[in-house]
Amino acid sequence: MNEWCGWRDATERALYGPDDGFYTRPGGPGPAGHFRTSVHVSPLYAGAVATLLCRVDDALGHPDGLTLVDVGAGRGELLTGVLAALPDEVGARLRPYAVERAARPQGLDPRIGWLAELPAPGSVTGLLFANEWLDNVPVDVVETDADGVPRRVLVRADGTERLGGPVDGADAEWLRRWWTPPLAADATEDTATTGGAPAPGIRAEIGRPRDEAWARAVRTLRAGLAVAADYAHERGGRPLFGTLTGFRDGREVHPVPDGSCDITAHVALDACAGPSAERLTQREALHALGVDGRRPPLALASTDPAGYVRALSAAGSGAELTDPAGLGGFGWLLEPVGDRCAGLLKPGGA
Ligand SMILES: C[S@@+](CC[C@H](N)C(=O)[O-])C[C@H]1O[C@@H](n2cnc3c(N)ncnc32)[C@H](O)[C@@H]1O
Repeated sequence: MNEWCGWRDATERALYGPDDGFYTRPGGPGPAGHFRTSVHVSPLYAGAVATLLCRVDDALGHPDGLTLVDVGAGRGELLTGVLAALPDEVGARLRPYAVERAARPQGLDPRIGWLAELPAPGSVTGLLFANEWLDNVPVDVVETDADGVPRRVLVRADGTERLGGPVDGADAEWLRRWWTPPLAADATEDTATTGGAPAPGIRAEIGRPRDEAWARAVRTLRAGLAVAADYAHERGGRPLFGTLTGFRDGREVHPVPDGSCDITAHVALDACAGPSAERLTQREALHALGVDGRRPPLALASTDPAGYVRALSAAGSGAELTDPAGLGGFGWLLEPVGDRCAGLLKPGGA
């Protein structure tokens, strides 16, 4: 199959095709086989999510049906790590669920439920967490033509591209609201103020399917907190040529939608955000949860050498998770549902 289609359909087939999708093909290595997320960097990340879950639990008054939903759960590594980090009393009450398009991995902790789809709206009390999920929700790509008109980019399974028709309807509306392309170099001040044409050759990803996917995920909560952590950009700072890219075997590669590589694009988290959303960087969020890259005091080396080495290693992982030029620059989108889980990561929050 090598016919032309938009990147959204092409990515859907390449990543999630039932027999040969990059993520769904039976026996595939899973995300960790191709790239490292925060979850794989260190157990400190799962520990921070466990701390957040405990704050949510406190805020909700320790409900019997406390639930943790991990959306886009990979092989269940985050849930496994959170279960290991939780105090026994909370772990005993917790209902942990993975939502994942790939099949349940063999040998996963039997306490973890494995769902192919999000739970029903209003059915979850607790924390919904989605680490690097939204960047894998397929999106269409647009590129401005010689006249500055945004056209859908069409692609074949071998990665060849050409421009399709102009974008219209809800996608055009999304672009108008969430994208500010630079104007053509020859735009005069007059045309700029009256909305001169965008420069040719500028690209963007249409984030609408992610806004909708995220809104559906938030709606599963009856009460609690939903968190999306991802590569993000904001209106005004969206990269000029878009962010669509591929990953294979730990390396960034040209995105080819044939199932041989991951296909991902940074997330317009500002467009996903609901009215009561809070936004932080991962660095701010992890600092609020007690993870940082501070080195242990040197004095520890003489009183407890093994403890010093452990603390040094944790400091290295903490530094990687909070590095502003790397994972620490990720966006965390927090959506409290109900009034009890607002401000949980603010200084002085629960
Ligand atoms: C980049 S991986 C992240 C895995 C894990 N959260 C981590 O941080 O290591 C994205 C995962 O999201 C899953 N995924 C994408 N869309 C999904 C959907 N609509 N429902 C459930 N899982 C989805 C993919 O199958 C893939 O395993």
